[in-house]
Amino acid sequence: MKKDLISLLDVRDDIFDLLSLASELKNERQRNGRQLQGQTLAMIFEKSSTRTRVSFETGMFQLGGNTIYLSQHDSQLGRGETVADTARVLSRYVDGIVYRAFEHQNMLDLAKHSTVPVINALDNLEHPCQVMADLLTIMERKKVLEGLKLAYIGDGNNVCNSLALGAALVGMDFVAATPKEYSPSTPIMEKAVSIARTKGRTSECVIDPNVAARDADILYTDTWVSMGQEREAKRKEEVMRPYQINKAIMSLTKKDSLFMHCLPAHRGHEVTDEVIDGKHSVVFDQAENRLHAQKAILIKLMG
Ligand code: CP
Ligand code: NVA
Repeated sequence: MKKDLISLLDVRDDIFDLLSLASELKNERQRNGRQLQGQTLAMIFEKSSTRTRVSFETGMFQLGGNTIYLSQHDSQLGRGETVADTARVLSRYVDGIVYRAFEHQNMLDLAKHSTVPVINALDNLEHPCQVMADLLTIMERKKVLEGLKLAYIGDGNNVCNSLALGAALVGMDFVAATPKEYSPSTPIMEKAVSIARTKGRTSECVIDPNVAARDADILYTDTWVSMGQEREAKRKEEVMRPYQINKAIMSLTKKDSLFMHCLPAHRGHEVTDEVIDGKHSVVFDQAENRLHAQKAILIKLMG
């Protein structure tokens, strides 16, 4: 049966294997692997991207395969062909599909009607590939993942949702501090809480960013205004202001804590220059690790 990566839950049994494979691929610095020779990956992007697009294209090239990038304007999706028909057609040509979508339901429809693996390159609910790279980054710095405290502060968005699941799956304590109206997805948090509980860990939502930051091993934030929310920008920026990651809030975390951000960052909004350019910051390692983590995902799903 074909395997998809729509939610981090899809790799709940393989997460540590994927992280070790990613780490091997990174250490080997293997640029000319042949694991996916002759395979083609279609990449449908409804939203902008720098990291995800370039790391998938480069990763596929390094594995001996090929990619076809389809923006909203290039394919018939933009003119009303259904996601289901697009999935059926692309499955006749390519060996895998990477999809960056607005609606999570479209992601599910594409996966349902495709006979080749579908990888979620971000939708409004989750960003699983990002979190695989984040876990790899944390593992490199901290050696073990179990028992760490990951605090996410800001908007309870797609990245926050995937982080909650990722943290629970690897046995970290997770806390999200967000304004009440911008808390993470309730069904996802319920899932994260129940997985965390089986490992003797916690996963929770709070309002006060200082409570979340206290003694955290990792402080993570993301943009206050995700792609597609531009109309809400003014209001969100007002409400989010107390959630900015600055020197004061970083001082509540552990001495050797990491600052993380999936990027792109909005400097002076969710994070100050001082923090993102400071000694705790690992944001460019995260960005690099997109390449290694996604190569592992591609091999696992398409190899
Ligand atoms: N972090 C991330 O997914 O970045 P892009 O939007 O540039 O792909
Ligand atoms: N939450 C952000 C992540 C960008 C990589 C967004 O969805 O726009």
